[in-house]
Amino acid sequence: MEGEGGNRELKTLQHLFDKNRAWATAINDKDPEFFARLSKQQTPEYLWIGCSDSRVPANQLLDLPPGEVFVHRNIANVVVHTDLNCLSVLQYAVEVLKVKHVIICGHYGCGGVKASLEDQDHGLIDNWLRHIADVRRFNADKFAGLDESQQLDLLCELNVVEQVKNVCGTTIVKNAWARGAELSVHGWIYNIKNGILKDLDACISSSDQLEDN
Ligand code: CO
Repeated sequence: MEGEGGNRELKTLQHLFDKNRAWATAINDKDPEFFARLSKQQTPEYLWIGCSDSRVPANQLLDLPPGEVFVHRNIANVVVHTDLNCLSVLQYAVEVLKVKHVIICGHYGCGGVKASLEDQDHGLIDNWLRHIADVRRFNADKFAGLDESQQLDLLCELNVVEQVKNVCGTTIVKNAWARGAELSVHGWIYNIKNGILKDLDACISSSDQLEDN
């Protein structure tokens, strides 16, 4: 029956398995050893901390295959010092995988950043977005005279710069630098309107480069 077919589709998401099969087959056709090689170990050089937004997929916009980038994503790419999830990813990436680069990547038009600027109730998430409202408060003078969309763009950028500092302030990164590890923390922003990444020139590669901690 037609209805049953529809229900089955709801339960199994068969089209996604079909797409997965086609994807794996295409990679295998091009490089039959790809999965066997990758299954033995991962040695990514980059940790990507980005927004959960579906329009900002790390591997795709960097055009990197599986195995090249370790990824953590949350709403509005926030690094909170008490977030064990994010800190565990950071620790594993820095201490075990020994990534050389941590990339904090925000994006213009971020819904989380936009919500943090609004004076309305969004529920539980407002507690998370509080961290971004704090970034605006720390930088209040920079927002004078800006219209709404300029404010959003600026806060998307400043949020990235703040999260770079937060990553650098963790014991994980401080200890890595103290033992002489080669590790840079970058602040980037992605434009969802044209697919282009921009470096916010906020890169920090040693404790000396931190203004204050
Ligand atoms: Co976002």
